[in-house]
Amino acid sequence: MNVLLLGASGRIGRRIATELLERGHEVTGTSRSGEIDGIDDPDFGAVAADATDADEIASLAADHDAVASALGPSDDADVDVLVEMAEAVVEGLQRTDTDRLVWTGGAGGLRVDPETMLIETEEFPNELEPLAQAAIDAYGVIGEANDLRWTYLGPAAVIEPGERTGEYRTADRRLVADENGESYISMEDFAVAFVDELENEEAVHTYLGVGH
Ligand SMILES: NC(=O)c1ccc[n+]([C@@H]2O[C@H](COP(=O)([O-])OP(=O)(O)OC[C@H]3O[C@@H](n4cnc5c(N)ncnc54)[C@H](OP(=O)(O)O)[C@@H]3O)[C@@H](O)[C@H]2O)c1
Repeated sequence: MNVLLLGASGRIGRRIATELLERGHEVTGTSRSGEIDGIDDPDFGAVAADATDADEIASLAADHDAVASALGPSDDADVDVLVEMAEAVVEGLQRTDTDRLVWTGGAGGLRVDPETMLIETEEFPNELEPLAQAAIDAYGVIGEANDLRWTYLGPAAVIEPGERTGEYRTADRRLVADENGESYISMEDFAVAFVDELENEEAVHTYLGVGH
């Protein structure tokens, strides 16, 4: 598969790029500058892209089988840039024949019980609420684009650099947690789940929780 990976310079994006390349896919990775250090593979090309610009997304996406996103707001940006990026990516793709989109989303909109999203729980850290709400708003944009074959992957509550075990569990719109209520996934195993979904298309039009 020939994949356009938006946000390939980020923490999760780098791991998705590595997973894709190890499985033999071709990857065009984007960052704002066009520089992506540390990925040395003949099947990888780095390009500059402003993900808030639908024209740029349309012209880049047109040559690819699928678009993957690990976009996130940079530290100096308003978190709502995430919603702008979702709007531009959806609009850009709608101008092309490329209709597959897999998005790295947030855990905040996943349910911990049938009536309660993680962001609504007392334990949810106040300082993370604006970013979690922006991710939920981005889901609102992507989830309405039913002319695209989108999948929105919500990681566990805690996602960190770690080990690639190849093991993970998924749940439709639910936070994945263990028997003690701990919700964790390594970025490497999230990348495994992400690429599995890109390849297998088992959760099209789904907000899928991913965890150990
Ligand atoms: N538990 C959770 O819910 C949880 C935890 C962690 C992360 N996440 C989500 O996962 C996603 C990725 O997280 P991360 O930690 O890997 O993020 P990150 O390291 O901050 O990477 C963000 C990526 O987005 C790119 N980017 C930012 N603004 C852009 C713009 N205007 N145009 C084009 N590219 C832009 C950055 O490129 P540059 O190189 O140009 O900066 C970078 O590649 C985020 O949406 C984050 O909210 C969720």
